[in-house]
Amino acid sequence: LAKIEIKMAEIPEGKSVTFKWRGKPLFIRHRTASEIATEKAVPIDQLRDPQHDDVRTQDPKWLVVIGVCTHLGCVPVANSGDFGGYYCPCHGSHYDASGRIRKGPAPLNLEVPPYTFVEDLLVVG
Ligand code: FES
Repeated sequence: LAKIEIKMAEIPEGKSVTFKWRGKPLFIRHRTASEIATEKAVPIDQLRDPQHDDVRTQDPKWLVVIGVCTHLGCVPVANSGDFGGYYCPCHGSHYDASGRIRKGPAPLNLEVPPYTFVEDLLVVG
């Protein structure tokens, strides 16, 4: 399927849910106010792949990323690691709740796919 439609109401705040899109895992995270505040406050000069949270989300409550580690392609684990986002157990890459690489061997942030909001749906693809 080229596109996937996700009912946002089915993902509670604080949860990251994994879907499958074009054969890859897709993480949709309903971020809490505290996660949003934390990610917005990270100085981008501390980042390996410098991107402000503002350019990684369309609506700060929703993080949409491809669940493929940018090191060698393992699937990171949600809500784990040192930065409260995702942790890749293959070689120890830590991503934050904006999907940005913070520690470990991965070179780049988790990829943000194209998506739009259509009423109560999040449409990826
Ligand atoms: Fe994720 Fe190596 S594949 S750290």
